[in-house]
Amino acid sequence: MFAFVIILLSVALIAIKWYLTRIYASLYWCWDNGNEEKRISIDTDDVSFPQSFLWGTASAAYQCEGPGDKAPTKSNWSEWEPQHIKHGQQCGIAVDHYHRYKEDIELMSTLGCNAYRFSLAWDKIEPVEGQYDQDVLAHYHDVLKELHRQSIVPMVTFHHFVQPLWFEERSSFLNSTNLSAFIRFSIDMFKEFQDECHLWCTINEPEVYVSGGYFTGIFPPGRKSQPNEASLVLQNLLQAHVDIYDGIKATARQPDQHSIGIVKDIFQFDPYHPLNPLDVYISRLLDYAMNGCILDFFRTGSFKWKMPGSTPRTFTNPRAPHTNDFIGLNYYSHFLVRFNPFKPSSFEIVHRQDDSGPSLMTDMAYPLYPEGLYRACVRLKDELPRVPIYITENGIADRCDDRRHLFLRRYLYALSRAINEAGCDVRGYFYWSLTDNFEWAEGYDMKFGLYDVNLQTQERTLRDGAKYFQQVIQKHRAKYQKKIT
Ligand code: FCB
Repeated sequence: MFAFVIILLSVALIAIKWYLTRIYASLYWCWDNGNEEKRISIDTDDVSFPQSFLWGTASAAYQCEGPGDKAPTKSNWSEWEPQHIKHGQQCGIAVDHYHRYKEDIELMSTLGCNAYRFSLAWDKIEPVEGQYDQDVLAHYHDVLKELHRQSIVPMVTFHHFVQPLWFEERSSFLNSTNLSAFIRFSIDMFKEFQDECHLWCTINEPEVYVSGGYFTGIFPPGRKSQPNEASLVLQNLLQAHVDIYDGIKATARQPDQHSIGIVKDIFQFDPYHPLNPLDVYISRLLDYAMNGCILDFFRTGSFKWKMPGSTPRTFTNPRAPHTNDFIGLNYYSHFLVRFNPFKPSSFEIVHRQDDSGPSLMTDMAYPLYPEGLYRACVRLKDELPRVPIYITENGIADRCDDRRHLFLRRYLYALSRAINEAGCDVRGYFYWSLTDNFEWAEGYDMKFGLYDVNLQTQERTLRDGAKYFQQVIQKHRAKYQKKIT
């Protein structure tokens, strides 16, 4: 009997070890080539990208432009800032990209970039409802002209977290009667710039806008733990996306020439202990609320949102599965979720996993987790088959510039593997960001830039850690040039 129990226990232990090894290997790669237990031999130089790949940087108007030539316009963020940013910081003139765009586009060229993602400042363009500021529109025509002069493909975003104050004061996306104003603005901007741009992002990270504004309260309007408002805002943003897509395709002079997509951030919610059913349950719940329900909407046309303690929300829109010519993927890292009965929410997010995963952190509370970029690409390929992907944002806050090189090396390796091994149709990569800029709630403390910016003199300096990006672009673009000659 005793021997039988021992055998049974051994078999159980072997099975558990086998199961854990499988889970672990799918979550974490072994980057250290010297590790004798390595499962995958990783050579981060072994990368390749498609010939027509877009290499770029991404930005958002509010974070880099500054007010431009006129008095600062009022927006949800301008009103929010004074008391809510770390150490009382304010955006001010940011990195004055509004005036320095030519210099910045030159820097993109120096890196070898052939694409640039940026957003239109709705608050500057339409400071008063229904009145477009022609000077600001002329400015964006100039930016687009300069990009074309330098052979850089533009990708324009209509909404990147910021909206005019008049829109905010009417409860913005919480009130579905307001949607028409944003849809009208987006379609008008398309009409204005359709001859100069062919890649369009409707809305940046709807679920981040919603969680910051209606859960954590670190973004305007600063509402905390309001799941019913959050799901309504999310519903309205997704409906707006569909209407903008259809509106543009109906008015475009050459609809087939234009690709339109939403930008989805995927921050996986992974269980802290993969074998703890409570960690698994909560992480799945959160992952569905932040990621799964949106991907389901675009796959099936049906949106189902549920969180314990809130009213479930469902709606359908049969047009949804037809409204992404591409999907923009923003990827930074993942969250580890642990059940904790002593927290009001019954869970906590753990930012480090010292006992197993790689614990190298960025200056944001995000671990370095390139495997997640691979997983996110594969997930999009599986859940939205045949929809091409652009990595519309990926970058590291690294004030000391001692992890940026490693970050770029590993994330680009993971991306190359997603393309070449998993067959993901990824068409471009936009690093966040060309220069340091105003990082929302964190202000200027977070240094994401390939170029460091001296905020007193506005002088830009290429960081050492960024040079790898330049090398990869040059190497890959040169490879194809060689083939052509
Ligand atoms: C993303 C935002 C972007 C920037 C990066 C660091 O979630 O879209 O504006 O703040 O994070």
